[in-house]
Amino acid sequence: MISEKLQAEFNQRINDEFYAWYLYTAMAAYFEHDNFRGFAHWMRKQAEEEMGHATKNLSYLLERGGKVSLKPIAQVPDSWATPLAAFEAAYQHEQKVTGIYGKFFELAQAEKDHAAEIFLQWYVNEQVEEEAQTAQAVDILKKIKDSVGGLYQLDHQLGKR
Ligand SMILES: [Fe+2]
Ligand SMILES: [Fe+2]
Repeated sequence: MISEKLQAEFNQRINDEFYAWYLYTAMAAYFEHDNFRGFAHWMRKQAEEEMGHATKNLSYLLERGGKVSLKPIAQVPDSWATPLAAFEAAYQHEQKVTGIYGKFFELAQAEKDHAAEIFLQWYVNEQVEEEAQTAQAVDILKKIKDSVGGLYQLDHQLGKR
């Protein structure tokens, strides 16, 4: 059995990951509406990954004999000022999630729940990729600045994800 404390945290992580799914789905819709089909595709793929992160936590909590309780998902924005602003918001979101999993990992250690600790290592590693991908897009978009050609080139590139 899992502790009450860790159960509550796992339920919160499920909510966090559903929130991330919501956020990236909103970004995909924003980009598609603005005819950036490649960015929209990238965001939809990202949303799918976040759904995977949510269900991975959910299945694990059940496997450990825990009780799943799904909470409401907070509202997300429906638009961003520019593609750069959207990717900056994505990068900030991923940095926040990295911090959350870091604290959760430390809690599992403090509770001496070795199985949870090992399980959570996957998320700690996954966040390295999540941050790197969004940071890279932010960096390129900053270099592109107001170049329409550069913007559509990146849109085309991210559409291949
Ligand atoms: Fe995630
Ligand atoms: Fe993520």
